[in-house]
Order: sequence, then C-alpha cells, then structure tokens
Amino acid sequence: MTSLDFPRFDVIGSTGRLLAIAVATLSLIGCGSGGGSTASGQPIEAATALSVSTLLFEEKALSASGQQACASCHASETAHADLAGTALPIGGAALNRQGSRSSPSMLYLESNGPFRFASDGEPFGGFTWDGRANSRVDQAGGPLLDAAEMDNASIAEVAGRVRKLSYYTDFRTVFGLGADAGDQQIFDTLRFALEQYQKLDTDYLLFNSRYDRWMDGTGALTAQELRGLAIFENPARGNCASCHPSRPANDGSRPVFTTFGYAALGVPRNPGIAANADPTFFDMGLCGPKRTDLTARTDLCGKFKIPTLRNIELTAPYFHNGGVASLDEAVAFYATRDIDPQRWYPLAGGNVDRFNDLPLNLRGNVIQSAPFGLQPGDPPRLTAADTADLVAFLRTLTDDQTAPQASAKVIKP
Ligand code: HEC
Ligand code: HEC
Repeated sequence: MTSLDFPRFDVIGSTGRLLAIAVATLSLIGCGSGGGSTASGQPIEAATALSVSTLLFEEKALSASGQQACASCHASETAHADLAGTALPIGGAALNRQGSRSSPSMLYLESNGPFRFASDGEPFGGFTWDGRANSRVDQAGGPLLDAAEMDNASIAEVAGRVRKLSYYTDFRTVFGLGADAGDQQIFDTLRFALEQYQKLDTDYLLFNSRYDRWMDGTGALTAQELRGLAIFENPARGNCASCHPSRPANDGSRPVFTTFGYAALGVPRNPGIAANADPTFFDMGLCGPKRTDLTARTDLCGKFKIPTLRNIELTAPYFHNGGVASLDEAVAFYATRDIDPQRWYPLAGGNVDRFNDLPLNLRGNVIQSAPFGLQPGDPPRLTAADTADLVAFLRTLTDDQTAPQASAKVIKP
C-alpha cells in the first residue's frame, strides 16, 4: 500500500478508454438517436454520462448506512461543501462516527493536478486538505471505504451495492461495462463516473460571479468591494492574492483563487473534534497522520492545501478543521492572529497557547509573512473596517446558480 488510506491504482489506461466511450455515448444522444418515448407519448430522458453520474453522486444506497451519499457532505446549495449548519461531517454504518475535517467545496478543481513538488521544493496539487489523492478518480475511493464516511468494508461490498441499483444497466451501457464486469471493474468505473460528473456538470465551473462580470467589464462592484479587492491584492496589507490569486492568467483564464499550494496558518485547535480529546493527537496535514508518506518531513507539518475562495460565503465552517464558524471570523483571524492572540488561542499555564493545534516543537512552521508577523501592541495591518471590506469583496465571488456558465476566459474589452 502507498501513502493513502484508500487503495490507489493506475487509472490512465482504463480512464482514457472509458472517456472515449462516454463521449461517444454523449454524441450519439446529441444526434437524437438516444431518445425515446413512453406508450403515453411522454418523452423519456435517455441515460447519459451526466444523468447516470449525477444519480450516483446523490445515491445513498452506496453507503453502509443507506442514508449517506456524496451529496450529503457536498451539497449543491453550499458550493458542494458541507450542508449549511454542519460543524463536521458524521458518517459510518450507524451514522455516529465523526470525521476530523470539514468538507471542502468541490468546485473549481478542474485545473488542479496530482500532488508534486515544484522546482523550488514547494509542494502543490493533489486532492483533499493534504493532497494525498492524485486525482478525483483516486479521491472517490476514499469516502466510499472510509469508516467515518460511507463505510463500505471492501471493494466487493461497493460493487454489490452498484449491481443492485435500478439504473445498473444504464450505468453499464453509458460507461461501457460488460454484463460480466467484476468487482474491481465496477469499483473503478464508479469512481470514473463520479469524476465525470464533476467534469460534465456545469455548476463546477460556472465562472459567472459578480467579480467575473466586473473582470469582463460587464458589471460593477461597489466602492466597498473595490476597497476590499485592493486590500486583498496589496502585498503589504492583506497579501491574500499571493496564495489566493485574483487576476486572470496571461492567456485570459479566470482566476480560481488558489495556487493549489500549501501553507501552515496555525489555525486554532477545534475542541469540537472528538479525536482532539486526546491532547497528543494532532492533525498536521502534509506530515500526517492521515497522510503517511511525508511523516519524516517535519518542515511540512501543519501545512494544508490552499482552498479556492470562489463561493466562500456559502461554505461555512472554515479551515480544514472547521473551527471557525463564519466568514467574518475567518477573515478576522488573518487580521488579528498575531496582534490579539488571546482572541484565538486558550491560556495554558498563564500564557497564550499560540498555534495550539500543532505540537510545541513544530510551531515554528507557522507562516509569519504578511498579513501575519506582527506583535501584540503593533498597529494593525488590517483594521476592523478593512476586514469588513475584505468580506464584502469575498461575497462577490459567489456564482449565480440560476444563470448559464460563462466562458473560462475573461472577455477581452
Ligand atoms: C461524510 C462526509 C463525506 C462524504 C459522504 C463524502 N465526502 Fe468528499 N470530502 C469530505 C471531507 C471531510 C473531505 C476532506 C478530506 C480530507 O482532507 O482528508 C472531502 C474531500 C473531497 C474532495 C477533495 C476536494 C479538494 O479540494 O481536494 C472531493 C473531490 C470529494 N470529497 C468528493 C467526494 C465524492 C465523489 C464522494 C462520494 C463518493 C464524497 N466526496 C463523499 C467529506 C465527505
Ligand atoms: C500563505 C498563504 C495564504 C495567504 C497569504 C492567505 N491565505 Fe487564506 N488560506 C490559506 C490556506 C493554506 C488555507 C487553509 C488553511 C487551513 O485550513 O489550515 C486558507 C483558507 C482561507 C479561508 C477559509 C477557506 C475554507 O474553505 O475554509 C479563507 C476565507 C481565506 N483563506 C481567506 C484569506 C484572506 C482574506 C486572506 C488575506 C487577508 C488570505 N486568505 C491570505 C493560505 C493563505
């Protein structure tokens, strides 16, 4: 086994073939040969890669509890992050096992690649908060088999559940599976289908927020939102854009507000996580314990993947451990972590226990550059008014679910 707590396998060969079949099926339907009608003359919708994979994403019968689908933790109304009001996801066969991380938004991951180190040695890419899945096909195996999520005991158990679905024949037809498909083949195809859903459903790359319209020159931002943008981009103030880029690339590609890199922000420990009752337990992101191949790289402890900020107003709670409840608080953390540490960290032996979600000897990994790096008593880099402006700007990044997808590149004036 590799670093992952779920099986990995080479998908390149089978994915390429399956993709060809899925696309062929789609174009067939596009030509009108896939439709049909019932005896009453009502048109029936032909099964497509999108329709079948959407059913699978919403399919509770794929879980041991029979009550949990992918969509249960990645709800469409919250940019495919946790359902509103959820602190941390609960799963397992009896729906009583708490996970230790917040469900991230699944949107805007199309341009993310496998986990790797750049030439400067910095890690980037990969899926989940610690990048331990190299693709969304890899990733889909995680929740299906995770005891605190959909809790299937084995690949055979997942395959058995797929065979029982009322639309199993459609699944086989659309994704090119034989009637005699084995467990592993069904499991691999299911994961491929779940990735296809994320590629084919236009919600995943709508690019139609008010900020997009402003970049296109077809919509305006308020004075407050523009002040927030300026603070967001100013390297001496928010410096947010250094990790959450806000401008189109040279080829006009719209920004997704993440470099897909990693950083240790030192977010406070979340006492609401059951595993944290053990004072020796620390979720340290890249260096483990969930991820297991970089445990020797103590310089990476505390680093988590930089998330997209598109649709950020919909995806509470915030940060990998879901410890911050609101967007105002998440931005206030950046503004006041160092000048008012008592606001964020508890006291331990009379001292503020800064960066308390990391063991003492690893707290030096926490980032100190702007907007951080001040001392209590220093004049703030970001005032309360600046924080409010930043939040106003971040709210312009919410997509319009009722409007069509915009082009992936900005409209050149
Ligand atoms: C019990 C809640 C739960 C269920 C069910 C669930 N997820 Fe997740 N999902 C999470 C959490 C929590 C993470 C972050 C995991 C981590 O960092 O270790 C995540 C991460 C992801 C990511 C990576 C996002 C990123 O930014 O890298 C994708 C993609 C994803 N899930 C897709 C799915 C699919 C597909 C399914 C169904 C097979 C599914 N999830 C089922 C909670 C859930
Ligand atoms: C050094 C890189 C870096 C800088 C600079 C930075 N961020 Fe982040 N941001 C991250 C990382 C990494 C996370 C996830 C950290 C975690 O969960 O432990 C994050 C998470 C967030 C979140 C929560 C996202 C979620 O899905 O839970 C918000 C909101 C946010 N950043 C806004 C900002 C704003 C506003 C600024 C500027 C004031 C900023 N960031 C500056 C790296 C950065």
